[in-house]
Order: sequence, then structure tokens, then C-alpha cells
Amino acid sequence: MNKLCIQGNKHLNGNVIISGSKNAALPILFMTILTEEKIKISNVPNLTDIQIALKLLIHLGAKIKKDKILHIDTSSINIFCAPYYLINKIRASIWTLGPLLARFRKAKIFLPGGCKIGSRPIDLHIHGLTQLGATININKNYINAHVKGRFQGKYIFMEKISVGATITIMSAATLAEGLTIIDNAACEPEIIDTAKFLNSIGANITGAGSKKIYIHGVLKLKGGTHKIIPDRIETGTFLIGATISKGYIICHKTEPKHLTNVLIHLSKSGAKITTGKDWIKLDMRGKRPKSLNIKTAPYPGLPTDMQSQFTLLNIISTGVGSITETIFENRFIYASELIKMGAKIKIKNNTITSFGIPKLISSDVLCSDLRGSATLILASCIAIGVTIVNHAHHLFRGYDSFPDKLNKLGADIKII
Ligand code: EPZ
Repeated sequence: MNKLCIQGNKHLNGNVIISGSKNAALPILFMTILTEEKIKISNVPNLTDIQIALKLLIHLGAKIKKDKILHIDTSSINIFCAPYYLINKIRASIWTLGPLLARFRKAKIFLPGGCKIGSRPIDLHIHGLTQLGATININKNYINAHVKGRFQGKYIFMEKISVGATITIMSAATLAEGLTIIDNAACEPEIIDTAKFLNSIGANITGAGSKKIYIHGVLKLKGGTHKIIPDRIETGTFLIGATISKGYIICHKTEPKHLTNVLIHLSKSGAKITTGKDWIKLDMRGKRPKSLNIKTAPYPGLPTDMQSQFTLLNIISTGVGSITETIFENRFIYASELIKMGAKIKIKNNTITSFGIPKLISSDVLCSDLRGSATLILASCIAIGVTIVNHAHHLFRGYDSFPDKLNKLGADIKII
């Protein structure tokens, strides 16, 4: 699973079924720590990040059964310390902190890991939990935290828009005494899905998806079932795949309204787009895309998780296009690998400018983060020649069956 051999010069055409959202499934898995009753979750994607999250829950004492549905029982959690080898692999492990404190009043977790796309600080998570009443110390990479009695609801203004910290505070506030208001909250669909899950097990959350989220604390949460929303970034990645290969694609079991901004930009680049209740069709009618000048932004702006994919669109566009990254400070690592394939790129501060060329040439490439890996694989599908993609394990963290799905669209990818 570490290397891919990709035969290039392909058009990507056809149908693809979109999997459940990684960035909704991960927080919701950790939210199960908040209740001692049984939970069933469906449409969970098959990813290494999910496997690590399940291993972490089992380490804490949860019982997990997986058939088509994930059955989780956290009534037997009796360990409140999460070790280095489980925590440091995924950023999402930070979401154990709020729920462990809310239900068990204590937690000791290693500092979280995640894609090396920036420093990935957790100060906003710590600040929020401290505001609710936690005492938190960080030493030798461990977060030691406890709270005396229940969290106390508070008004919390987020100095910076943060998906992760919004979810951390929302999770802790569900069992707090009184009302918590999160102002300047992140609005991503994954936050709405997490709030929907929490409300389905007895929480009292309103305003998720807007700038102000209201959480009226309750004493206990109960059991329930939930279906994870589709993955909007996987959807966007496949749409870009068809765009850069002058092909056409229909993405099924997705949610068009989660990709409004992405679809606007793809239409601007010349794609013909039609949508239905749970599908999106894109057709390039055999044409190269026009270049775009865009900025990433918190939802509903252009997702930072689509930055590298749109750079690839600009690289093979008919003009000069630039993308400014406003969320993470080091998210252009993939660019040097694309330059090896002939891309004409200039990076200045947090803007990447590409001078469109008709063809890329294959060259062995090295993956270093999740979304960059998917971009390098799409580039390899259209490059002239055979590409070896190294360190492909980054891809399997966040894309379910990506090579198989691409091969069904006409790619020629072998796992070696
Ligand atoms: C989530 O990361 C997603 N990860 C990311 O997806 C996504 O890019 C990001 O949100 C979008 O904002 C998961 O959901 C598992 P943030 P998160 O807190 O929560 C700074 C992918 O490819 N910040 O919204 O870590 C931070 O450094 C991944 O699927 C602080 O300063 O992102 C960044 O500049 C990559 N202090 C900005 O805020 C904090 O305490 C937004 O980060 C927290 C964040």
C-alpha cells in the first residue's frame, strides 16, 4: 500500500460512488465517549485514520463491532490516558479531550499528529475547555487535564475560525451546566453533522452551521443511530479528475449543496455542471479548463482541502492562474513534485501561480500529505508515461478505495 504504478495519458469518464465523510466520521466517533449507551453509525468510510480512531477508542475501553454498520459501546471506558503511538498519528485524536473531561472529569492525552501542512497548534481547543472550567497543563508533549464537577456553560468568542476547536467546545458543552455560546464558530457541514448526531442522542444544540452555536447543557446523553454525510472533498477531488482529463463524470451519493463554491469555480473554468438530489455531473466536452484566480477560506468559501487539486487544474489550464492559501502556513509541499512532471509554477508567500501547459510528463513522485497525494495521483493519470508514486500510504488515510474508483473511470493504477 506504499507505492503505486500509474500508466498516464488517460481520460477519466464515468460514474463514481462517493463514500462517507472522513471529517464528519472522525469527530462523531469520538463524540461516542460522551454517552454510556450504545451507538450505531453507518456510511463510515474505510480509511486508515478511521482504523486508528477505532483502535484509540478500544484502548480507552470501548467495545466495537463492525459489520456494514459500526456498533460502538463506550460504557466500559476505564482508561483516560491516550498514548503516543495512537494519538500522534491523527489530528482528530484531540477530540478525545473534551468528551473525556465532560464525562469522566479527567484526561491525559499525547499532543495530536496530523498532516504536516502547518504547525497545527491546539491553543484554541485548550482556551475553550479552560473557559468552561477545565484545568489543563501541557508538559513533555502530554496534555494533563481535569475539571472539578461539571463544566460551566460560558460565552466563548473564537479568536480564529477553527473547525477542530469549535467541535471540541461543542462536545464539552453538551454536558455542561447552563448555556454555552460559541461565537465566530466554524460553519463546515461536518460540524452540522456532528451537532445532528449529538442532538440525536439527547444534546440540545442550535445554530450549528452558522457563526453562533448555542448549547444548552444536559445531565446525560443516550444511545442512537446516525448516518455519516457524504465526503465533499472526495467529491471535489473526482470532479477535478474529470476536469483535468477533459472527461466527464457523475458523482453519486453526494451532497451538491456542500460544494456550491467548488461548483461555481469549476463552471468558471469551462465545465458543464448539472446536479440532482444526491448527484453531480461534470462534462468538459473534451476541452482543457480555463485558469482560475482563487483564495481558500473557511466554509462556505473554497475549501483549503481542495487547494492542491485546483492548483493542478491551473497547471494544465489554457492560461495563468493563482491560488492563495489562507488557512494553513505550509500547504504547497506537493508543488515540487508537480514541477518534476513539467509544471510551470511560482510560489510567493502564500500564493501559488501556475502557467498553464497542455501536457505533464511522468516522473517518480513522493507523497507527503493526504490531499497532495490525491493531486499527484490525478496528475499521474494524465501525464505522458508511467509514474511511480511513493509514500502512497498518505492517500489511504483519507480516500476510500481511491485507486479502484479511478480505475473504474479509465485510469490504470496498480498498487505495488
Ligand atoms: C480540520 O482540521 C480538518 N481535519 C482539515 O482537513 C481541514 O483542512 C481543516 O479543518 C479546515 O479548517 C479534520 O477534520 C480531521 P482548523 P483542523 O482548526 O481542525 C489554526 C484534511 O485534509 N488553529 O480549522 O486541524 C490552524 O493552525 C484535513 O482532511 C490554531 O491556530 O483545522 C489553521 O491555521 C487537513 N489553533 C486554522 O486554525 C488551534 O487551536 C484552521 O485550523 C486550532 C487551529
